[in-house]
Amino acid sequence: MKQPHKSQALQSGFPHVRLRRLRQNETFRRMMGTPAPPPEKFLWPIFVCEGMGVISPLADMPGQNYFSVDRLGKALEPLVKIGIGGVMLFGVVDGQKSSNASYAHKDNGLVQRAIREIKKHFPAMTVFTDVCLCEHTPHGHCGILDRKGIVLNDPTNVVLGKIAVSHAAAGADGVAPSSMMDGKVIAIRTSLDIAGFQDTVLMSYSTKFASSMYEPFRKTAHSAPKSGDRRAYQVPYDDPKQAIRESAFDEAEGADILMVKPALFYLDVISRIKQETRLPLAAFNVSGEYSMLIASADRGWGSLHGMVRESLAAIQRAGADIIISYWANQYLEIFASKD
Ligand code: PBG
Ligand code: ZN
Repeated sequence: MKQPHKSQALQSGFPHVRLRRLRQNETFRRMMGTPAPPPEKFLWPIFVCEGMGVISPLADMPGQNYFSVDRLGKALEPLVKIGIGGVMLFGVVDGQKSSNASYAHKDNGLVQRAIREIKKHFPAMTVFTDVCLCEHTPHGHCGILDRKGIVLNDPTNVVLGKIAVSHAAAGADGVAPSSMMDGKVIAIRTSLDIAGFQDTVLMSYSTKFASSMYEPFRKTAHSAPKSGDRRAYQVPYDDPKQAIRESAFDEAEGADILMVKPALFYLDVISRIKQETRLPLAAFNVSGEYSMLIASADRGWGSLHGMVRESLAAIQRAGADIIISYWANQYLEIFASKD
């Protein structure tokens, strides 16, 4: 019998060593593998709208809906049963936009009412809120504009502080600023502390890229910038040094949780930040990543649940402690199915 090539045998140990031994059956594969991220690791992003009795499917994100405040209790029941970690609230407020985004910090604003409604039904449900201006300004930028249309950093931080305090006062457990202003974390932390909300968790969208993967969200939230783009404040995806520095900056300002967004095209960034911080790290599995897999499955190019499980495993393997994902409301089907 022909002997294996000598140098090759020395390198790999073949034929004595055989890697397929450890994956020959389901029991071994499970024993060596990592369990799927449990439901507690997920935050489900939801879109709240004005009106009564509204559950309206999102054209650009199949499987997701707009919910009016009164429908939130029913909508969240199944998630509470599964044990999903919590929700991340976004308000869609068409009639209430203004250049200073004042509706965003009204005591009885849409998001504030949504928080109270959820806490009324499920006091133990963890509620995070998105803190930004783009959904509340007619121009759709994430801050206050000057006369030339440039986003003003420090005045925007003042408004972010007010929004965060109004969410905390309504009962939010955590606030998540997504505007990418410099100093947003210290500004919000200071505002919260002065208002007596020392225990409100601050999860910063610390490394948020200028990405093309937010389109379904922007269509849904009616928050696309009317002119220009967000590249003057969101991180360029071809500059990894800035990406790491952004999270380090927010950690130094006192963020409790860091975040990388989007997730799937940025697994290297998740992994690097994970190595450099002791803070919990969240990954935002964004709207484009969600709708992309649905579109692909619809065209017969892969099994939806298989692709979803593989992508969530990738986010977990990269090092995310928390996964913010629209898949959260389909957790059972995704992980129970064999396809
Ligand atoms: C608002 C915000 C955006 C997302 C979360 N918060 C959109 C943007 O920055 O344009 C994107 C979420 C998603 O795509 O799922 N600043
Ligand atoms: Zn924004």
